[in-house]
Amino acid sequence: MKVGAVLVASILLVEDIIIKKIQAKKTLKNFIRSNKYIGSKDRKLLYEITFNMLKKYFGLLYICKIYDINCSVRNLALFNFCNKFKHHNLEDLYQGKYSLKKKDGDFYIFNKAINFRGEVKPMLPSWLEKKILINTETEKFFFYNSILSEPRFDIAINLMKYSREEVKNKLKKYNIICSYTKNSTVGITVNNRIPKNTLKKIKSDMFEVQDEGSQLMTLLIGVQTNMKILDMCAGKGTKTILMSNLLKSEGFITAFDKIKERLGVLKNRVKELKLKNINFDFDFKNQGQFDLVLCDVPCSGIGTWRRRPENIIWLKNEELEKLKLVQNNILLNAAKLCKAGGKIVYITCSLLYDENEFQIKSFLNNFKNFDVINFREDIQKYLKKEIFKYNKYGLTLTPDVLNTDGYFISMLKKTA
Ligand SMILES: C[S@@+](CC[C@H](N)C(=O)[O-])C[C@H]1O[C@@H](n2cnc3c(N)ncnc32)[C@H](O)[C@@H]1O
Repeated sequence: MKVGAVLVASILLVEDIIIKKIQAKKTLKNFIRSNKYIGSKDRKLLYEITFNMLKKYFGLLYICKIYDINCSVRNLALFNFCNKFKHHNLEDLYQGKYSLKKKDGDFYIFNKAINFRGEVKPMLPSWLEKKILINTETEKFFFYNSILSEPRFDIAINLMKYSREEVKNKLKKYNIICSYTKNSTVGITVNNRIPKNTLKKIKSDMFEVQDEGSQLMTLLIGVQTNMKILDMCAGKGTKTILMSNLLKSEGFITAFDKIKERLGVLKNRVKELKLKNINFDFDFKNQGQFDLVLCDVPCSGIGTWRRRPENIIWLKNEELEKLKLVQNNILLNAAKLCKAGGKIVYITCSLLYDENEFQIKSFLNNFKNFDVINFREDIQKYLKKEIFKYNKYGLTLTPDVLNTDGYFISMLKKTA
């Protein structure tokens, strides 16, 4: 493919992702599947420029507005391409039948892009930026850079059956090079992404795919043997399975999710793994019965923006308000289902004050029989003191700290 044709394909894909709200990865996969002639080099370039453009979307909007450039996706993509690959000249992009069609303002865009110092940086729209607790310019710099980093491929080991050493050696036989996760005590980081088919074949009962940040959140929950746990938003069950491991077959987990298809994935995995301590019989009438209620609530997902940068483009204030209501409602139910002396653990993969500290603060205002648990010391078992952000409501793990997804975790004790 001519480089201009790859750029045009990327522009069409970004337009599609923004309008149709279909995940970027899925959109790209479908495109590649229906255009089998695209070679591996072009495919790589297409992924690279499409994701890069999505990640820098608001940064590009900001710069192009300053330069008085019409902010169509085409122009933003052209600016980004010329800014990123300064060795290409504009004429290259017009070569070939399917390449870019020349427009009057192109040379102006090209000129501004190649003379721009460095590369355009990612940004959040200002209404979202205001909702993140960033204290210094340095913090802001690292935080914004984190979206450009490549997400790692981490797995959580089934410690009931295998040690990390055993799994590492087994993976070595498939030429998969890996190392222990630095902070999670149950994880392994794989150097190269394992293709889906290979993964299915070798995964067996050895491990689950789980980002180190998510592993740390699950470890921090404080699962203890014999606990009766309710996982209220179990989804496909990444945290549920690790909790089951930590329970060492003692205690019980009831898994629930509003979306039955997601829970279906967990049900199948539970069957495969023959896990006896996870059940799905849930009734909201089971009030005051659980030692621990985990609320891993649906959220904006800002903490996972490296993987799904399109979420930031899609997110509107009205949607955030709706999510806040759902989160609040889940917490209200959790308050009833938790027994006196038990605890609620609230987790989001968001970095927004509205979905994190604000929710806990509002909850505590309404429920005087709950106190925030100080778990600072537990965190220190896994993380160095100076790198984590902890306030009176809980811990925020930003993606730049350990190159994990970003999370917030808070714990509440029911006193009566
Ligand atoms: C962050 S995901 C959970 C991820 C999961 N715990 C894991 O570790 O793999 C949030 C989940 O909440 C579910 N959800 C959305 N609204 C809900 C509600 N009102 N009650 C329970 N679950 C809900 C979603 O279907 C989604 O699976």
